[in-house]
Amino acid sequence: MTAPSATGGRTPAAIALDRRCVAHNYAPLPIVAAGAEGVWITDIDGNRYLDFLSAYSALNFGHRHPRIIAAAHAQLDALTLVSRACHDHRLGPFCAALAELCGKQTVLPMNSGAEAVESGIKLARKWGAEVKGVPNERANIVVAENNFHGRTISIVSFSSDPLTRRGFGPYTPGFRAVPFGDGAALTAAVDQHTVAVLLEPIQGEAGVIVPPDDYLPRARRICTEHNALLIADEIQSGLARTGRTFACDHWAVRPDVYLLGKALGGGVVPLSAVVADASVMAVLHPGEHGSTFGGNALACAVGTTVVAMVATGEFQARSADLGRRMHQRLAALIGRGVSAVRGRGLWAGVDVDPRFGTGRQLSLRMAGKGVLVKDTRGSTLRFAPPLVITADEIDWAIDRFAEALDEAAPR
Ligand SMILES: Cc1ncc(COP(=O)(O)O)c(C=O)c1O
Repeated sequence: MTAPSATGGRTPAAIALDRRCVAHNYAPLPIVAAGAEGVWITDIDGNRYLDFLSAYSALNFGHRHPRIIAAAHAQLDALTLVSRACHDHRLGPFCAALAELCGKQTVLPMNSGAEAVESGIKLARKWGAEVKGVPNERANIVVAENNFHGRTISIVSFSSDPLTRRGFGPYTPGFRAVPFGDGAALTAAVDQHTVAVLLEPIQGEAGVIVPPDDYLPRARRICTEHNALLIADEIQSGLARTGRTFACDHWAVRPDVYLLGKALGGGVVPLSAVVADASVMAVLHPGEHGSTFGGNALACAVGTTVVAMVATGEFQARSADLGRRMHQRLAALIGRGVSAVRGRGLWAGVDVDPRFGTGRQLSLRMAGKGVLVKDTRGSTLRFAPPLVITADEIDWAIDRFAEALDEAAPR
């Protein structure tokens, strides 16, 4: 395992091209990926990096998993897209398999995670109007502060992150934000006009924040009592990431609506979905919602394979077992540059003592040692390797993290 340098070779010119021609809406690590397999990424200069990011859970099954790639190749040779103007041979089987995995009946396929969230919001408002009888101009959706659900205008309208919102008004009305994890605040916010409560069961971008144990069961009870939909955004937390199929499973909570994305596309294609009971989905009629690429045959072939892989339980078990090891090793660094570790399974938010540098500085140090992690919200690092990682690879990466902290220690 090499300790690469990102400063020489073809890397600087490639980064300069990006700076010139690519919108500056990201601040990427100075690495130019050119190949990847399993948990390893190779850059254009041949340096190797252990991927502890997994594209924010889009690569739960690793890079180019052979089963997923085989499904994609086979589908490329048969049919890729007809739009929803006619039926195709992949959409129905995919939706049936995904609905079964979720214990639901119907699926609305989309592409990006943000589109799934938007679609979930539209579904909830329509359901509120047609089933609950809430006039549209009165309908509200209760959300959590510090949420991250994507980047559309409506979604940033209920973000509490100024960077996400500033300059993008006017904002979409109809949302109420309450502190995440506070059951009493949630209870107080829900009223007869609430059509949905929309939550990440574990907040990812906020730093892998796990709520108190009674929070999601209470949210479930409140929604049932007030006849509101509980919508779980499992786009980052779902599909085996936390050691269970869905993060909600840790609290035996069954939402009315699952929002899925990222790993659903196997790291190959954008594929997201809203999954709900038929009685809820029934409020959508032809022409009221759609997407040209949503549910295309290529994505569905990949998605069907992903669902079959998740259904085996193998990845949940790996995440739970290896996650215990990763959390133990990270917890041992508390007091040596780490101030707190949170999470479930192979998903950890690691707060770094600010005297050891910012999250960004630490992630740059780690990249220099051949491990890719990314900072979130200032001084937190997110550790989320592909679930195909081995125990030795976890140990190796955490050893590099310990080294980086030692080097960064205040003297
Ligand atoms: C919980 C959650 N919801 C929604 C999204 C948006 O997904 P996308 O970037 O595919 O639009 C993200 C992305 O990080 C997410 O973490």
